[in-house]
Amino acid sequence: MFLTTVWVHRTNGSENTGKSLPAHLQDISSHHERTVQTLAQDFVRRFGDVPTIYQAPGRVNLIGEHTDYNEGFVMPAAIGMCTRVAAAPRRDGKLIVRSENFSEEATFELDQLPVRGSGHWSDYVVGVAKVLAESGIPLTGANLLICGDVPVGAGLSSSASVEVAVGYALMDLAGQETDRAQLARLCQQAENEFVGARCGIMDQFVASHGKRDHALLLDCRSLDYRLLPLRADARLVICNTMVRHAIAGGEYNQRRAECEAGVKYLSRHFRSVRALRDATLEELAALSGELPDKILRRCRHVISENARVVQAAAALTRNELSAFGDLMRESHRSLRDDFEVSCAELDLMVQLVEQAQGVYGARMTGGGFGGCTINLVDASCVDAFQQSVSEGYERATGRRPEIYVCSAADGVGLA
Ligand code: GLA
Repeated sequence: MFLTTVWVHRTNGSENTGKSLPAHLQDISSHHERTVQTLAQDFVRRFGDVPTIYQAPGRVNLIGEHTDYNEGFVMPAAIGMCTRVAAAPRRDGKLIVRSENFSEEATFELDQLPVRGSGHWSDYVVGVAKVLAESGIPLTGANLLICGDVPVGAGLSSSASVEVAVGYALMDLAGQETDRAQLARLCQQAENEFVGARCGIMDQFVASHGKRDHALLLDCRSLDYRLLPLRADARLVICNTMVRHAIAGGEYNQRRAECEAGVKYLSRHFRSVRALRDATLEELAALSGELPDKILRRCRHVISENARVVQAAAALTRNELSAFGDLMRESHRSLRDDFEVSCAELDLMVQLVEQAQGVYGARMTGGGFGGCTINLVDASCVDAFQQSVSEGYERATGRRPEIYVCSAADGVGLA
């Protein structure tokens, strides 16, 4: 349980009773504390109750793309941009959810939650509540006020950050000890079954388990993980192309199906292959006469990407950022040519980044078809990097990119 701070002042969700915030929260100076305070004040104004505030981060994936649903390895890090949920319990079994980003509110009855999502932002909240309840967690009604600064549709997992923050909040309000791996699995299940996106476990896992100044090496089969310290003299710089191609969702599910088709072929010949995680490039090559070219290339990406993640972890452990960067480059090429999930804007961004000083490596990050690149940049070169990449990209596309200089952040917790 995390409810030990002065924030905790639970009443029963009566609305607009005019309660004000504790005095110590009225004189706060840091940006983090100011935004937390503003959310708390908005909550008091709307619901008349003092909330507990939770937050879960977005993520960037350093390497290991489209490997999670193939039971392979990934290496994401949680980032400073996050979703915050102000929450207090209600006694009447209602779930009232307000989004500050959408300026909208929706009300649900916990005992009559919809069966499936409707394409509304509240799906990410209701889906999590539903999956938690079905897993046997005795939820209470709740008022939730949600606000986030993870860019939506940029491939930085704004949806997982909403799911994990809400799931954590609901479990805490229900007095449940949080098992973070269970939280990640349930949030993934909500996205798969309620929202209808067949994502893997990476995003929810790192939103639950991320650690400041560390990347997270995750085995997506066993869910064993290791935290790998990131060097203080390098920065994770994220370049947002500001494009998201509409085909992204359909193509993602298509790639999953193609990987599954590959496993069918491989497992007929090699009985140890239950997922692409189990296959080797030699086994794949042995089937090259039989496998359709497209399936072969999809499998080649996943099998080689898994190997790259393992090598990248070793390079990071030895502090060899140049070797790490080379693996990022290979990863991008493989995603572009074999897995075919890059796009012109991502390729251009990677090209421009490679021309800047102090860059160890660059690649697209996340599902693809737009969104962001992740770039490992020497800290002393970050300012010049931002200027040259930003100008180059705008000149070539007419779009101004957003560039976020990040350090790795903690996973879900109290704000
Ligand atoms: C999306 C999914 C993840 C993962 C990546 C690709 O972000 O949500 O589960 O599959 O794409 O690596």
